[in-house]
Amino acid sequence: MASNFLSNFNIGKLNVFANPAKMFFPKRMVGIDVGTASIKVVEISRWGQGKTLENYAEIKSESLYKEPFRNAEKGSYLLSNYFVSRAVRAVLDEARIRTKAVVFSIPDFSTFCTSFDLPPMNQSELQDAVYYNASQYIPLPITETTLDWKLIGGTPGDKQSSLKIFLVAIPNQVIQDYQKVAQMAGVELYAVEAEALGLVRSLVKENKDCKCLVDIGVQSTTINIIDKKDLKKSYSFDFAGGQLTYSIASALGMGHMEAESVKNKEGLTSSKEEISKTLYLLIDPLIIEIKKVLSDFYQQEGKEVSTVYLTGGTSLLPGLREYISEVLKKKVEIPNCFSDLLYPPILGETLEKMAPSFSVAAGVALGGLET
Ligand SMILES: Nc1ncnc2c1ncn2[C@@H]1O[C@H](COP(=O)(O)OP(=O)(O)OP(=O)(O)O)[C@@H](O)[C@H]1O
Ligand SMILES: [Mg+2]
Repeated sequence: MASNFLSNFNIGKLNVFANPAKMFFPKRMVGIDVGTASIKVVEISRWGQGKTLENYAEIKSESLYKEPFRNAEKGSYLLSNYFVSRAVRAVLDEARIRTKAVVFSIPDFSTFCTSFDLPPMNQSELQDAVYYNASQYIPLPITETTLDWKLIGGTPGDKQSSLKIFLVAIPNQVIQDYQKVAQMAGVELYAVEAEALGLVRSLVKENKDCKCLVDIGVQSTTINIIDKKDLKKSYSFDFAGGQLTYSIASALGMGHMEAESVKNKEGLTSSKEEISKTLYLLIDPLIIEIKKVLSDFYQQEGKEVSTVYLTGGTSLLPGLREYISEVLKKKVEIPNCFSDLLYPPILGETLEKMAPSFSVAAGVALGGLET
């Protein structure tokens, strides 16, 4: 199984193709992000250079099961492939999506992203050198992992130029899980892709300067550094958006639903000191983490990050964007993953509100259409 994948992966594109021979130039693609609390799907079609948002939908785990769809402690899913595949089928049916070709995003905690330097060498030597060196940087046996990589610095063939490699490694077991889910849900797995790469594709539109992209979900947060359009660093840590709700619920003696609603409506701007204080206490460590990533990057590369992008559902916490901007003294934006797609103008406002939760699904769908 492993060698099958290794021979099929698509070098330099950084997504692992499961089935490259079957659909060569897909015109429609569905991106599927199995998140902790919900599964998000985005269907995009392509006509020449134009791309149209055909459909999007979300199904929350609490509407089907008592457990979240995935759990970092267990590495992959908390729920079985069977339950996840049923939920995928349900959301596709509900949204009347008939397109079979899908790309699944792989959660950050199941992916290893790293970058490393290689000495000057020719293009023909590069692939073997990456494989040979990769084992030093990933904590899993190379035979149980699918690798993909991209050259992000230096020029092969130039004797003066050392080469910088960005490497993505996905355990084969994780890919096999997604294959099973796809098969049971009755769809065709076109590719799988690390979620950080999907995020960069759907959110980073300008090919200039360095950006920091922070995705705050329910269970984990990733902090990514992007130089021009290349992902240079990707860290994931366990700042959990879901914790904000629990803390409000216990500080104010509220039920989960009420705490969730207060958090989403009032957030850091709440006039009740107990609420804002509880949230600031949790948000400050997140900002310290972002600061550390920015300063490490500056020390390693001598480059200053110009803008921070926030995404993931928790990026909508009222007052969060302004607060991070004030502390970091940087421009902070919440980019819209749908902004380059065609869609009926009447949907504009709704899509803007939903967009942060769909960034990963939109990005991996776009990736499937690029190849
Ligand atoms: N207005 C809002 N203010 C604050 N938080 C919000 C708001 N709207 C949604 N959220 C939070 O966003 C989270 C869901 O975000 P998202 O869909 O990105 O998570 P996920 O992808 O399922 O999680 P993960 O990536 O950790 O697996 C929930 O914790 C929800 O409470
Ligand atoms: Mg997510």
